[in-house]
Parts: sequence; C-alpha cells; structure tokens
Amino acid sequence: LAFSKAPILELPIELPPRRSRKRSRSLYLQLKEAIVDGRLRPGLSLPPTRTLAAALGLSRNTIVAAYQALLSDGYLSSRHGSGTYVAPVTPLTKFRGVKAVNAARRHPSNRFWRSTAASVSKAFRASSQNPRFNFQVGMPDRTHFPFETWRRLSARALRAFARGPATRMHPQGRTALREAISKHVSYARALACEASDILVTTGAQQAFDLLARTLVTSGRTTVALEEPGYPMLRTAFMAAGARIAAIRVDEEGLIVDRLSKDTRVICVTPSHQFPLGVVMSLSRRVALLEFARARGAVIIEDDYDGEFRLGGHPVDALKTLDPGGLVFFVGTFSKCLFPSVRLGFIVAPRWAMTQLVTAKQVTDFYSPVHAQDTLAPFIAEGHLARHVRKMRRIYDERRQVLCNSLEECFGDLLQPILVPGGMHLTAWASSLAVETATLRAATEREIQLLPLSSLYSGRSPRPGIVFGYGVIDKQAIVEALALLRRSLDRKALPD
Ligand SMILES: Cc1ncc(COP(=O)(O)O)c(C=O)c1O
Repeated sequence: LAFSKAPILELPIELPPRRSRKRSRSLYLQLKEAIVDGRLRPGLSLPPTRTLAAALGLSRNTIVAAYQALLSDGYLSSRHGSGTYVAPVTPLTKFRGVKAVNAARRHPSNRFWRSTAASVSKAFRASSQNPRFNFQVGMPDRTHFPFETWRRLSARALRAFARGPATRMHPQGRTALREAISKHVSYARALACEASDILVTTGAQQAFDLLARTLVTSGRTTVALEEPGYPMLRTAFMAAGARIAAIRVDEEGLIVDRLSKDTRVICVTPSHQFPLGVVMSLSRRVALLEFARARGAVIIEDDYDGEFRLGGHPVDALKTLDPGGLVFFVGTFSKCLFPSVRLGFIVAPRWAMTQLVTAKQVTDFYSPVHAQDTLAPFIAEGHLARHVRKMRRIYDERRQVLCNSLEECFGDLLQPILVPGGMHLTAWASSLAVETATLRAATEREIQLLPLSSLYSGRSPRPGIVFGYGVIDKQAIVEALALLRRSLDRKALPD
C-alpha cells in the first residue's frame, strides 16, 4: 500500500499501487468512513477534484468517480457553483465519548442487571489469579475423579447418539438420567421419588432461577433467605422481584420464629447450612414444615453437598418429612462431580412440575443431552457412589487436618464451628481486628480466604473466615496455616 496524505483534508489516506483498479473504490471507502465517524464534519467543503488529485498523485477521473459515488449514496452534497460538501450525516463519534454506563442508561437496560446483579456475581466469576494456597469455597477436587470411566461412558453415549433418530428432546430431562437420579436420591438421601418428579437443570443455579421465575410474583412475594447464605441464590430471587427477608441462622439452623406471616417461599440448606455448616435440628424442621403448611408457603431445600455428610448421625433430607407438596429439593452434581458438568435437578411437588418444565423450555429448551447421557450410566453403574465414598474419606482427612492446624496455630483467635461433613469450614474470629489482620496476611502470602461478612446481605454480627478445602491438600493446609500465623501482624492481635 502506498501511503499519502491529503494535506487539504488533513486526512491520512492509504491507496493501492498505481495500476490497481481499486484506487477509486479505496478512496471512496476511506472518505465515507471519515464522514461517518465524524472526522469530516457536515458542511465541510471538499477540495476540488483537480486539487485533491494533485495532492494524492491520482488521476482526476479517480477522484471524480469517488465523489460521485459518495454523492449518490448521500454522504456528499453539491451546490451548483459552490463545490462539494459533506452532507449532514450524524457522525458516530458523538457516541464515542459516552461511557458504557451512560449509554446503558440511555438505552433500554434494566438497572438490576446493570448494577446490583453485576456486583454480586462478580465475586463468583473465575479470577485470573492462581493463589499459592487455595482455600476456595465450593470447589471440589477433580484430581481423584475417574475420568477414564467418564471418557468411556461419554464415547458410548456419543455412539448411541450418532445412531439414534433425530428427535426433539424433552425439557424435563432424559428419562434414563431422571431414573438414575431418583434411585440415587432414594439411596443417598432417603428420598422416595419417581423419574416423573424430577426436572434436570443446568446446575443448582438454574434450579434457583426457574423456581424464582415460577414462584415469585414481582413486588408481591416475600421470600425468606438464610442470613448468612449463598449470594447467588439471593440474586436469582431478587431478579424475579421478590421481597427478600433475611432470616438469621443459629446453631439449630434457620430461626423459624422470625419468619413473617406473609412469607411465601423459604430457602434453606438444612443438611449443612451454607456457610456456617450447622445441621437444622429436627424440631426446627418440623416447625418449618408446619409454618409452610399453615401459611400456604413452600420450602426450597438446597442440598448442595448432601452427599458429603460425614461421621455423626446421617441427616435425611428435609423433603423426606414433606407431608405433601411443600418442599422443592434442589440437588447438584457440581460438588460430587465437578461444577463444569453443569447438571443439577429439582425434585418438585407434582402440582408445580408443568410450570417448571415450561420455564425450563423457555429458558434453554433442555440441558445438554450428551452430558445427561454420560451421567445417567455413571450413576446407574455405581461410579458416582464409589467416587463419593472415596472423596468423603479425603475431605474428612483434610477437615481433621484443618481443625488441628487451626487449633495449633490460632487457638482462640480462630475457632472452627465443629460440624461433620462438607468441603468447607467456617471459623469465628475472636475480634474484627483478628479477622482483618488474618485476611491482610492471607492476601500478602497469596492465600485465598473468604471473609464470612461477604455472605451476609446486611452487617455481619460476628467476624469469621470461611475455609474451603476442596482443592487444597493436607500438606498445603498445614503449610498455609503456619505461614498465615507467622505473618499475622502482631500489633493487630490482643495480648
Ligand atoms: C450453597 C450452594 N448452593 C448451590 C450451589 C450451586 O452450585 P451449581 O449452580 O454449580 O450447581 C453452590 C455452589 O457453590 C453453593 O455453594
């Protein structure tokens, strides 16, 4: 490309080599772009063809052809006797300086999605940092997963898919998977249900979204959420326009007495409260079900890591006590397999299934079929149960090591809430100063920790730290806690 400048227009113009037939076309395009983006403003007088031809070293015909094309497209106008002008085209540059936020306000854009939802969900996105010691909450260990088995089942599913008829899939989910899930929850969670009671979802998050869409009337329905609790669940209900009531949790779980009479949906994690870990007592479960029955409310049971209860007495799902039609049980394969499989499910009361299936269909038609057809035999042939048994042992050992290290390194400064099971543990900090100093030292030492306060919607009444041990091994736990203790700013600590 030859490069030359039209001094008269103050416009850098690049042109193809001399004998190219495309020179006029190229000039046309460059002038047009300059007009559209505002570098050549409306009303500007263009140089006579002869002058521009001389300046660019082109033939006059080339310029005339370009001007004529611009005239006929409406980018230029000519007044007899007084030359050629840039027509009044709205230059796009007008918008260039406008910040994205302002532009979003000017155009149809929902404030909730623009600001509130964005600020909550940012914390749950992938971070580019790779911490040296990763206590990330909610992330399971993949290194022990039987990928070879998964690969074999996946290949089998693909072969069957390639041979099978091209039929439309049902939004409720593949029958074989729903049958496998119904057996799995009956065995693992003492929950009697049939394949027809199950809706396959894209993880628990979609289950929350579908339940919020179908149960909430915007601005009218009061939804009680645990405080502290899982922010992504809260966001799904806020998006649906729910009136949110944050209800405190104590050592027996959600404080049922604090529910207001107008509450219509209650979301709980009864098997392993997120994030405190406590198990909802039997008397609270009964009180909660009684409340729902009396008030015409429903309960959403988020059983995100129900498979990983350890030691102590196994806790049945709340849904096993459901007298009928009150409890939606939400399960996920994000913890017992891995989150990227994006499969979960709802065991729903019969009266609600049709509306949920319709909402699922409107949202994404159905969940990816190949993943469903791989997961179904993975469960049915016993691989899931085997993997869960193995992981329980591993997480249990890590938990023990974490508790011992906390005790050894921090004593009373960080006191773990001792409840069996799961893949995270919350520790109360003895003061806000201890929490702040610990988090600061963790950042300096590349140790990823979660402040408990980030899981409250309001002010957190007690400082604390949440430790996930899904992806960190025993040795790293010991090392990280010793390092953290050494790095604590002694001045911030009590004598
Ligand atoms: C309390 C709780 N509920 C539900 C989920 C949902 O997981 P997913 O949407 O990956 O199934 C998580 C994930 O971390 C969680 O911590």
